[in-house]
Amino acid sequence: MTAAVANPAPTTRPLPVAAVGLRDRHGRGKRKLRISLTDRCNFRCTYCMPEHPQWLPRSSLMTRDEVLRLARIAVLHGITHIRLTGGEPLLRPDLLDCVHDLQTLRPLGLQRLSMTTNAALLAPAAKALAEAGLDDLNISLDAVDPDAFRALTRREVAPVLAGINAAIDAGLPVKLNAVVLRGRNDEQILPLTAWALARGLPLRFIEYMPLDQPGRWQADDVVSEAEILARLRSVYRVEALPRGSDPATRYQLAGEATGVGIIATVSNPFCASCDRIRLTATGELFTCLFAASGTPLGARMRAGDDDATLSSLLRNAVWHKQAGYAAAPGPVERPILMHGIGG
Ligand code: 5AD
Ligand code: SF4
Repeated sequence: MTAAVANPAPTTRPLPVAAVGLRDRHGRGKRKLRISLTDRCNFRCTYCMPEHPQWLPRSSLMTRDEVLRLARIAVLHGITHIRLTGGEPLLRPDLLDCVHDLQTLRPLGLQRLSMTTNAALLAPAAKALAEAGLDDLNISLDAVDPDAFRALTRREVAPVLAGINAAIDAGLPVKLNAVVLRGRNDEQILPLTAWALARGLPLRFIEYMPLDQPGRWQADDVVSEAEILARLRSVYRVEALPRGSDPATRYQLAGEATGVGIIATVSNPFCASCDRIRLTATGELFTCLFAASGTPLGARMRAGDDDATLSSLLRNAVWHKQAGYAAAPGPVERPILMHGIGG
């Protein structure tokens, strides 16, 4: 247990640089912020969204300036890592400008600017993103077999592979993410591993989380960390590496330069060390993927709240962050699907 921390008093004074670190009442500090730039996506991953999703009105999405304003407040509160997500962030016409804008936060404490993408539109954009100052990419790749890929994402794998190659050519470090669903892509665990190892790319398997359409997720569809490991052990000698702050447990495969990670949100929640918070594309702050509701920082910003007021809303929301999914396992009913919160 970490020592109790006093709830920071709301302030109306302007914030000094590197004002106050963000802490919750369970003693967890926050260093990582994910910002969804749009809820729209050119994919339709079955574990993430319905085939015919309802998009948010464009006018409700944060503008480039609004993104920068909330990101700046977060960095002044000790956020060191920002990850741009979607939906699909490459659908945002001003993505490069956003990446440029966020560079101005480096002197204030931003250390790393990353992006999560399905990579289908990445090939023509990779070089410019690297030049604009993006540090690295997480790319979703649930299968290397075109049929298995299509069954999960309702889209083609070839443009994704081209996007991965373009990112590597542009010098952007790439990590691969694969959500595993029973009977859909569990047969792809070994081919994906071989594919990633051959290219020296870190790969992380993700347990299927109950965050898609209500009623869709079934516990039986989850391929657990233990099952993923059993598959890997049928071919490789696998050793667990010490756990860091990353939600993935990392495993070394004997004789290989890169290992694999497993994000076991369902079978082994890592809430106790969670150091992240999320902003939706409308600027709603979710302190947990599984939170039933958020704090409307975007709406309050549009209503005219100043930075000091937004800051105290941020601190209070973080302070009241729930202990976590571990405290309330099972599907959650909430007004926002995975593509709206950015994974
Ligand atoms: N369970 C686990 N991971 C998911 N993602 C999207 N929906 C789910 C889900 N239901 C992941 C994507 C991507 C990231 C944005 O979130 O695979 O890697
Ligand atoms: Fe799009 Fe990512 Fe959701 Fe797939 S998981 S539909 S790529 S937002």
